[in-house]
Amino acid sequence: MEAPRPFAPDWYVPWLPPAPGADLKLWLCELWLLLLTPGLSADLLPHEEDVKFINEYVNLHNELRSKVKPAGANLRFMTWDVALSRTARAWGKKCVFERNTHLEEINMAHPIFNGIGENMWVGLENEFTASIAIRSWFAEKDRYYFGNGTCRGDCSKYLQLVWDKSYKVGCAVTPCSRVGRIKHAAIFICNYAPGATLRRQPYQQGVVCSQCSKNDRCTDFLCSNAEREEATYYHFWYPRWEVPRPLVCDPICILTFFLRTLIFILSVTIVLIVQSHFPNILLEEQMTFPLEVTKREVEEEEGEEEEEEESEEEEKSEEVEEEEEEEEEEEEEEEEEDEDEEDEDEDKED
Ligand SMILES: *[C@@H]1O[C@H](CO)[C@@H](O)[C@H](O)[C@H]1NC(C)=O
Repeated sequence: MEAPRPFAPDWYVPWLPPAPGADLKLWLCELWLLLLTPGLSADLLPHEEDVKFINEYVNLHNELRSKVKPAGANLRFMTWDVALSRTARAWGKKCVFERNTHLEEINMAHPIFNGIGENMWVGLENEFTASIAIRSWFAEKDRYYFGNGTCRGDCSKYLQLVWDKSYKVGCAVTPCSRVGRIKHAAIFICNYAPGATLRRQPYQQGVVCSQCSKNDRCTDFLCSNAEREEATYYHFWYPRWEVPRPLVCDPICILTFFLRTLIFILSVTIVLIVQSHFPNILLEEQMTFPLEVTKREVEEEEGEEEEEEESEEEEKSEEVEEEEEEEEEEEEEEEEEDEDEEDEDEDKED
């Protein structure tokens, strides 16, 4: 028997327009991905098998929801959501049988919905099928009394599975070397939006589809609405707490990469141009600022720093003195000129 194997992660790897060496870059990036994600190569599935897996768990959810007893009047038709799958995969990677702690945090489990629901199944890896896991949740119905809304023990997974308002589901199965005491385990998580609050009965009892929202149609005994169910692919969203982080490059990241490359090329070009125009630029610098002078300047600067306040005042007075001196000099020059003229006059007379 062939058990459904884990999801191939939906890496998003952006590519700049093809350039020389693009093939090499592509190859290097693929190698990088394989090195970064141990075991990925072994579990990497063809895309069609992903679709099979998605169809299997979504269809089973809808089938079980349409069969609730007593009959439900307002249960919604469920469709797949990629962000919920990513959250399920990211939490599954931790290999712990614990509730995801990020479900109520804004933007941490889904880019749009808050208050995400979660069901979890842990078992032997070679015994896992989506059907076994989801039916085990549904089996909790035997402990639930719809009439007075009470449960013997835990019915939370059943209540989430048949919660009327939930219409998006995303699941992922992750192999784990061990979870608690189970070795060679598989952890199967489904996340739901909007999540169940569990504070009331899971749906309204009544004739199938008799209490759907306005504009809903009845599809397979469930309330369906094409607009509501439209798939969004959230190309650049992934859970921020995922470890290791998947390789995702959003438009800002692409822009930054592009600008950095551009600036690097520009600076290299400028250096090359300057070097070709001034081949002796380093020698020239040494000629204009010989070592000895620079040393003296440094020493002077150090001295100045210590007496900065004093020297400022001194400078002011010096400036005033200089101005006075200049004025005096000018006057003297004028006088001299006058004298010269007089002398010339005298000479002529002679
Ligand atoms: C709810 O109903 C079930 C069966 O009808 C009964 O066994 C159970 O005691 C009820 N619980 C409460 C809290 O009334």
